This record gives sequence, C-alpha cells and structure tokens, in this order.
Amino acid sequence: MASEAIVELAKRRGFFFGSNGAYGGTAGFYTFGPQGAALKKNVEDAWRDRFTIREGNREIEAPTIMPEPVFEASGHLDTFDDMLVECPECGESHRADHLVEAVTEIEDAEALPGSEVEELIADNDIACPSCGTALAGVTVEDFNLMFATDIGPGDAQPGYLRPETAQGIFVEFPRLKEYARGNLPFGITQIGPAYRNEISPRGGLLRLREFTQAELEQFIDPEEDEPPLDRVRDVSVRLYPATEQQAEDGEYVETTVGEAVDEGTIGSPWVGYYLGVAKRWYDRIGVDLDRFRFRQHLAGERAHYASDCWDAESEVDGDWIEIAGFSYRADYDLSKHDAHGDDAFTVFKRYDEPKTVERATVDPDMSVLGPEFGGDAAAVAEALETLAERDPDAFDGETVSVEAAGETHEVDADVANFSVETVTENGEHLTPHVVEPSFGVGRTVQTLLAHAYSEDEVDGEERTYLSLEPEVAPQDAAVFPLVTNDDRLTELADRVATDLREAGLAVAYDDSGSIGRRYRRQDEIGTPFCVTIDRDGIEGDGPETVTVRERDSAAQVRVPAEELAEELAALRAGGEFDALVDRYETVATDVETN
Ligand code: GLY
Repeated sequence: MASEAIVELAKRRGFFFGSNGAYGGTAGFYTFGPQGAALKKNVEDAWRDRFTIREGNREIEAPTIMPEPVFEASGHLDTFDDMLVECPECGESHRADHLVEAVTEIEDAEALPGSEVEELIADNDIACPSCGTALAGVTVEDFNLMFATDIGPGDAQPGYLRPETAQGIFVEFPRLKEYARGNLPFGITQIGPAYRNEISPRGGLLRLREFTQAELEQFIDPEEDEPPLDRVRDVSVRLYPATEQQAEDGEYVETTVGEAVDEGTIGSPWVGYYLGVAKRWYDRIGVDLDRFRFRQHLAGERAHYASDCWDAESEVDGDWIEIAGFSYRADYDLSKHDAHGDDAFTVFKRYDEPKTVERATVDPDMSVLGPEFGGDAAAVAEALETLAERDPDAFDGETVSVEAAGETHEVDADVANFSVETVTENGEHLTPHVVEPSFGVGRTVQTLLAHAYSEDEVDGEERTYLSLEPEVAPQDAAVFPLVTNDDRLTELADRVATDLREAGLAVAYDDSGSIGRRYRRQDEIGTPFCVTIDRDGIEGDGPETVTVRERDSAAQVRVPAEELAEELAALRAGGEFDALVDRYETVATDVETN
C-alpha cells in the first residue's frame, strides 16, 4: 500500500494527521487521533512489556529539555548535523544527501563528505525540487538538528530539546548506578518524545520534528558480562552486513542469531541478543517478516557515538525504512559525561581477591614548584602525577618534561620525588559500556499500518481491512445491536458493552447503518472482533447469546453473553479464534448482509 494511501486512511479514520491545520499546518508535527493514539499506546505497552519488564530492566522518565553542557559533552552540539542545501532562487531548504540519493545509485549519501555531495549535485544536474533552479555551485552546509531554547528569564541558561531520550538516562547514571547497588549489568528504559529540527520532514510519521522513542540503555562490564544468548540463539534473522552492501553482488545472509554471533557477523553478543529479542517482538506485534531485515551501518553512516550499529528496517511502499537501531555505544557517553560533569560516571568493580600491585607515583616538592612555576605549579604537579602513571620510564633521567597550562616545563627528577609503591587494591573504577536498542514508535506504527493493510471480498463485496494483531489494535471489539427498535436487543447490547469495558477492553458501540457497513467501518480500523446482538440470541429458554465475528476470516461463532468478556480477553492476550470455532456453534457469514 502506498504511503499516501496510508496517510489518507490515517486521516479519514482518525489514526494521525498533520497538526495545527487551522493555522496552515506545521510541517513535521503530527497529531495522533483516537485510533492512532490507542494503537501507539498499545505498541508502547507491548514494548514496555518486552524490553523493560520481561528483561528485568527499570524505566525512568527524564525532562525533555536539557542544558547546553549536556550536549557539549555528548557531542550533539558539534556533530549532530544534516547536510543542508538552500535554493538560491526560492529559498527552500533541502537535504542535500537525499537529493543525491534520489537520482543516483548511492543509498547512503549521508556518509559522504559535503564537498563530494556538492560535486554529485553538479555532476548530476540536480535542481531544486520546489522551483527547478539548478543547485550546482550552491554550498552544502552542516545544519545542527537540535531545537534551541532558553531556560529561565533574564540571563537565561541555553538549553535544547533532547534529540534522543538516551541522554536523560546517561546524565543520571551516577544516581541510577546507586539504585542498581553498583552492580552491572543493568538496563534502563525510557519511552518519550525527542525532537529534531529536520530540514525536510516527510512521509507521514517517517521523518518528524517531534517523535516518540522507546530506548533501552544496557550498561555492561565489557570484560565480563554476557547476555543470555541461548534464549534467542535459534531465532532466524535476515542480515545485510556492511561487507555485503559494499560487494558488487552482495546478498542477504539468512542465518540465526547464534550463528551470526559465533561467526562474528554480529560483533557484539549483546547486540546479537537484542536483535533476536526484537525480531520476536516485531513478529508478536504484527510486522510482516517477509518485509523486514537487519542492516548494518556502513562506517561513514554511524552516529558519532556508535562503534557498530545494526538497524531494523521494514519495507514500506518499496522503500526500506529504519524502525530501530541497535548501537554499540561502548564507553563513549559515560566517559564524556565523566570528563564534563561533576559526578563519577564509573562503577567500582570489586576484585574476587585483593590484588597487590606496583604503582608509580610522585610526591612533588611544592616548596620548589611554587616559586618556580607560580600559578601553574598545581597544574605541573598534576601533570607529573599523570605522567608517572602513564610512562614511569620518563623519570629515569635527571629532569623530566611535562605539558601543563599550554607549555612544556622541565622539572628536576628529585623535585618530582618519583617512586614505585606496592599497594593492595580491592577493585577498580570501571566505565561501563552501553548497548542501545532504540526504537522509533511512530515509524513502527506506520509500518504496522502498511503491513496490516489488506483487501479482499466478503459475500461478494470488496472490503479494506487492517489485519492488526489484537494486542495492538486500537479497539478490542465493537458491539452492534442488530436493530435499534427492540428494547431487549439494545438493553443486552448496552450490558455486553459495559461488561467488556469493565473487563478492561476498549469497545466501540455502533448502532447506525446496516450490519455490513458497521463491519466495514471496524475492519478499516482493524477491530479484531465484532459482537452482534440479534434476536436468535435472546429467544428460547437457554442463556443469552451473541455472535462474535473475527475480522480477517469473517468467520462467526455464537457465544453465551456471560462468557464473552473472558473469551475476548483471552483472544487479546494471544489466544486463537479457532479455539472458539471448536467450542461454539458457528454462524453462516451471510448474517453480515442482514
Ligand atoms: N539514541 C539513538 C538515536 O536517537 O538515534
């Protein structure tokens, strides 16, 4: 199904639509309508269930605005840029790399230097998509994607809307490690909005300026901690490693998580573990696995913090879109915050047995350094300390030279008072490594809509339906009284809807139009079960019954009204409709056209 058709259906049926329409609309911002908000929330709940609760992780909720020093440390201020080319004629801004990708075979122009992209624009006669003016010779600039703001009035502190939820976890590591009692490994998750001032937002929910991330930061000791790989060893995966992307006749590698880790195709067992967990999760929520792959980033494509990254990608409308990234961030973030922040972003790793080690140290004579180096004396002493740890041989001569306060200083070796001590150490301060599964929630929603979109014929009529998994469908069920002029039917329909809602199910109530029309309305928003209250169900001496119709097969069974809530709750939790077909009387489907 084409993206435009999804966007049209999404707007018509209340999944999502461009925000602020009454004020001309604001590109890059979408509002989730009643169906979309419910679908998105169900996806988030399913993610929380899988990546927080079942993994034994903990979730936090941090502010979305953070002060500038956080992003100086994280590298976002310097490097979180996209390539901007601005049309000299109409002033419209475009992603230069996307313009190049649209007319060449290059799939990842973002990885190229700006000068090369400028050349490609000229060589391929690329023109402004808005007004047709040639863009040859126009400078490609780096455009920082963060939204800037002021924190407080007056001499306000500069701040930014977070470009990833992850930083809210990293900056609180000193406290979070206390809650974990200093023990690795532990994982912290967060679901919430992130903001990027995209140059050209597009594709419905695919590239937004405000979007929802579901992120897990897994903190590990890289020397010792291993993931529970056996749980996902047999999960089959379609991999597209960087080497295959670069080879002329490169192909997918169809393998299992276990084999891919054993053979080194996936470098980190932790990344492999989460690819396996994610693959199962995508299956659970209804991603079409024939339109799904894991693609490794090329070296030039990786974010500044990642030493390796695999994306989960889904095929939507002929394009592969990134729906999650699994980055090995190593100690990049915690080391940066350790260097810039006031707290320690390390954990103390206690040895099994205390170790006796030799440690080179200095005890500089400050009564000599003070008069000689004045205000730089403390910096010289610190530099001597660092040098002793790093290069004890440097103290072999009569003088030792150190860099401090921007200058090279010569210090007499006997003033440095170099010595090697024998000390007993109980442990060491370790900077944990981070493995990060990061999911785009909106992109997952758009994938689910595209993959669930189906057309068929029921009782000679064409229909469109969304084959959404019951766990994520916006409505769990819909209740229809067959007619509205029979109090006994409407009273039972009201009672059934109330019972289902009391059981925690999201239930639509529809009493207008033919039953066929009511089914079509629910089919189009993916409601998995429609419950019809008809006369057969209230006549006779037996218990009251209702019919339950399953969306995809349009098969129907007659179920006692009293058992309905329990049965539907079980179906929502993953039960099979066939089990109801086995246990209850089936109903001819031509009831639909009554
Ligand atoms: N935290 C990963 C990302 O925002 O892309």
